[in-house]
Amino acid sequence: MQIKNLSLQNFRNYENECFSFSEGLNILFGKNAQGKTNCAEAVFYLCTGTSLRIRHDRQLIRIGAPCARIAADAENRYGRVRIEADIHEDGREIRINGGRISKNADLMGHINSVFFSPGELRLIQDGPDERRRFMNMSISQTSPAYYTALLRYNKILDQRNALLKNKDIGLILDTLPVWDEQLCRYAAVIVKKRAEFLEKLAPYAKELHAFLTDGAEELVISPDKKYEGEEGDIAEKLKRQLGRNYEKDVRLGFTTVGPHRDDIDFFISGKDAKAYASQGQTRTAALAVKLSEVEIFRELSGEYPVLILDDVMSELDLPRRKKLLKRISSVQTILTCTHAERVLYGAECRKIRIENGRIKREKEEGA
Ligand SMILES: Nc1ncnc2c1ncn2[C@@H]1O[C@H](COP(=O)(O)OP(=O)(O)O)[C@@H](O)[C@H]1O
Ligand SMILES: [Mg+2]
Repeated sequence: MQIKNLSLQNFRNYENECFSFSEGLNILFGKNAQGKTNCAEAVFYLCTGTSLRIRHDRQLIRIGAPCARIAADAENRYGRVRIEADIHEDGREIRINGGRISKNADLMGHINSVFFSPGELRLIQDGPDERRRFMNMSISQTSPAYYTALLRYNKILDQRNALLKNKDIGLILDTLPVWDEQLCRYAAVIVKKRAEFLEKLAPYAKELHAFLTDGAEELVISPDKKYEGEEGDIAEKLKRQLGRNYEKDVRLGFTTVGPHRDDIDFFISGKDAKAYASQGQTRTAALAVKLSEVEIFRELSGEYPVLILDDVMSELDLPRRKKLLKRISSVQTILTCTHAERVLYGAECRKIRIENGRIKREKEEGA
């Protein structure tokens, strides 16, 4: 997959700008707060319909402007695709090849992207929320069924949690089984897809981690054995677990079991990484995991996703940077940094200097 160009109108600090990207490495460079991450965010938004930095779409509209527009021409193995998003104060419209889509699930998969910022380097040492977010984002892009199940699960979970805070115990106990029936159906889809994802992720991560550490360490991602079997079995098992926890859930006022509480376990050279690994070790492992995500997309969709590396080079040591560049040479990459020459090491690329929400076109670059 490849993004050919991107145009931004009243998006974040951009008034009106067009980018053209080459198939390999594209470097967005410039001082802080000029709009590099904003551009990377726009690309991710067109791929997924969301941004990892916002609570509400309206934050994306340039302050003082009525609406924002992002558009891109891309190419995937089925041909050309044009994606446009108009974002207004009170809603948005996304079009694919001119046709308006009614739900976000229809956007997923046209252009897949892997977004990598310094936050993802903390994937292993941070809390389980971050690891679930990683799985949700990644699996949703290749499985609309997962994305839809996740939305429905979260909605029912919110309703269940609201019910648990009710004062009427009789009402709670009468209503819970009804919610749980539906909750478990969607939970089973989520659990099963996550298990399949982790099963794919584990061997890639192991190989990439060995590459990044020159074979000095071994990364093992172990599957969650809590729920094994097919979707029907998973749903039944979870229903029993929910039933056993009614009293606890009512006491605490929230749902204590289910995929919203699951986690991924990482072991580096036999030790639980969350508890024992050094910061450097967990970063290298996180890098291996994110690069595995790139490989999984290729395996599932038949082509590489677009890789967005937002400010990660400065967080990696020299050997890791070089290995990263080597590994991504056949993936279209949009990389942001403050000093292009410090991260390149002679790699071929298109350089784009960003200054105050505009591309700074210099004579030698325009030639
Ligand atoms: N909705 C918005 N309207 C106008 N400016 C914005 C908006 N959102 C963010 N900005 C501005 O964008 C700049 C940050 O851009 P960013 O892409 O994060 O910088 P960097 O180049 O360091 O990655 C800040 O100056 C911020 O004030
Ligand atoms: Mg930035």
